[in-house]
Amino acid sequence: MTDGSDRMDEEAAARELARLAAEIAGHDRRYHREDAPVISDAEYDALVRRYTALEARFPDRAPPDGPSRRVGSRPAQGFEKVVHARPMLSLRNAFDEADVGEFVQGVRRFLNLAPEEPLAMTAEAKIDGLSIALRYEGGRLAQAATRGDGREGENVTRNIETVESVPKRLSGAAPEILEVRGEIYMAHGEFQRLNEEREREGLPLYANPRNSAAGSVRQIDPAVTAGRRLRFFAYGWGEVSERPAETHSAWLERLAAWGFEVEPNGARAGDAAELVAAHRAIGETRPALDYDIDGVVYKVDRIDWQERLGFAGRAPRWAVAHKFPAERAETVLEDILVQVGRTGALTPVAVLRPVTVGGVVVSRATLHNEDEIERKDIRVGDTVVIQRAGDVIPQILEVRLDRRPEGAESFRLPETCPVCGSQARRDGGDVVRRCTGGLVCRAQAVERLKHFVSRGGLDIEGLGRKHIEAFYADGLLETPADIFRLGERRAELLERDGWGEQSVDNLLAAIEARRRVPFDRFLYALGIRHIGEGNARLLARHYGSLDALREAAASAASREGEAWEALTGIDGMGAGRAEDLVAFLSDPRSARIVEALAAEVAVEETATEAAGAGQDAGELAGRTVVFTGTLAALSRREAKARAEQIGMRVVGSVSAKTDLVVAGEAAGSKKRKAEELGIRVLTEDEWLELAGR
Ligand code: IVH
Repeated sequence: MTDGSDRMDEEAAARELARLAAEIAGHDRRYHREDAPVISDAEYDALVRRYTALEARFPDRAPPDGPSRRVGSRPAQGFEKVVHARPMLSLRNAFDEADVGEFVQGVRRFLNLAPEEPLAMTAEAKIDGLSIALRYEGGRLAQAATRGDGREGENVTRNIETVESVPKRLSGAAPEILEVRGEIYMAHGEFQRLNEEREREGLPLYANPRNSAAGSVRQIDPAVTAGRRLRFFAYGWGEVSERPAETHSAWLERLAAWGFEVEPNGARAGDAAELVAAHRAIGETRPALDYDIDGVVYKVDRIDWQERLGFAGRAPRWAVAHKFPAERAETVLEDILVQVGRTGALTPVAVLRPVTVGGVVVSRATLHNEDEIERKDIRVGDTVVIQRAGDVIPQILEVRLDRRPEGAESFRLPETCPVCGSQARRDGGDVVRRCTGGLVCRAQAVERLKHFVSRGGLDIEGLGRKHIEAFYADGLLETPADIFRLGERRAELLERDGWGEQSVDNLLAAIEARRRVPFDRFLYALGIRHIGEGNARLLARHYGSLDALREAAASAASREGEAWEALTGIDGMGAGRAEDLVAFLSDPRSARIVEALAAEVAVEETATEAAGAGQDAGELAGRTVVFTGTLAALSRREAKARAEQIGMRVVGSVSAKTDLVVAGEAAGSKKRKAEELGIRVLTEDEWLELAGR
């Protein structure tokens, strides 16, 4: 290790140990109590390693409450990764009765249900814990994994084995492979006991039961997890060797019979009004419950219908989470900072006098944009009402005008960028003021680089936000491609404080490991405005390769014609996102960045067809289809969703480039045009046969 400890005298070591201990304690506090960590896990671990190495040489000079004297102050690194056979997705939210009505209507429309046809649904508590996938093989618990980013989690089997309410063996017959999903949580009593114990020992307290459950699951030593008395509620399944139930309610009964705990306050419902009544009833049980719930999850009961409904983006169409209203508190707005984001947006951020809301200390809140500040007439010095819901960043709801101090002035965003001094402009109807400096602006360039290496992006281990800032400031990095050229600057890296042979080699190896990257991750990592992980995946599945996407974007540059229609027709894309994508790929500055990057990394192609489709379906991937006329078995939405699922492009009009037309009842001019052009026309039944019923 080249941490310099060899050359250190005892006094300097004592000072450095005290400094590191204080720094680590600060990070512990921000992580646990404020839910607002400012460094990555890897950076945190590096600090702890440095502390431990120094402590080993100067054990007598270590502070009595130093980090190594505490148990599990922050989750450690070092769990093996587990790729989920079926991704662990999230839920859409509903906030009021209108949203619930829309959910039910959306389901009915998608399934093409006649008005008199009943739709059975379930309502169950949404447990505010940590989702876990338990894999049983031959009825025995074989593996437990965290959700992670939904695609890849961590293997926490040894820790989960210590949880009493997780059956190690299922009672009764079960599918050979059975992945049960549910929520690990910490009951209130246990949370209180743990925090009292930590307080006595002078350790940082956990902010809420969810953080403390998460911290307890990610302990390196299973004995620590065992001492935390976690619990588990089961509600779903992942990979299974055979379908374990025909309805969700029957599934919950099977879970209970195998020995799982199922949250007991669930109900059944047949329409939106009954769902809302269940929401109210479950909400009323909340104060008496010994665990946190943050809403009610509604699900379509029939599993075959769930399968037909499938997923839109990262959430199922067959379920929705109806959240409970968020918690509120009052505090004083002490200042407004202006941050510059990845896309140049100037974001005002409220600096608040720290206050506890929903068990978490809040000292920052988002102010969105200047219109919002003006609309709510928010001024520095005001007493404000803030609201925090789950993981959502706290928001300012309103100002207590009766408590406004004299002389409080209205706030305006600056007309020049606070970071680079370039003009900051609002274009057209945009509510956001943006710095026009582009990559000349340090803030934008750095934020882009941070996004590029972030978890959903290239996920380069050991290259944290702090490193990006420092490397950028010293001219080691400017654009993403430079990351892959860091190897050429090994000597410069070695000269840097805190970097030794081992750490530089580890970093370069982590970078090399990302020279091959899946297309969707690459696309997301580019940080194109409004293209999140879900859209990146949709685009990857639709176009298959970077070249195909670039070609399509070039053809769509006129914002009309088939390429544009195909792009905007992708489920979940829409014209706004398509516009951002085409603008990014055709801007010469960003095109150069992509070009340079593509010269450094191999972008893996994405399969454009999905499993489970009919025999010919594989050949359909990448082809263009038009639906016309009235379909009997499927709604338009379902037809479109299925076609896209097997990698087809759905467009609205027939042209020479159309590969297939599916004609329902009373199909008119589009069908005729297809026949004239010699395009294959299928009936709805033939289409279902081909696409795999
Ligand atoms: S069903 C496709 N049911 O909420 C996802 N989720 O916000 C289906 N959760 O990731 C999830 N209680 O961790 C479902 N009764 C419940 C739940 C529940 C808690 C969590 C789960 C999920 C998150 C989505």
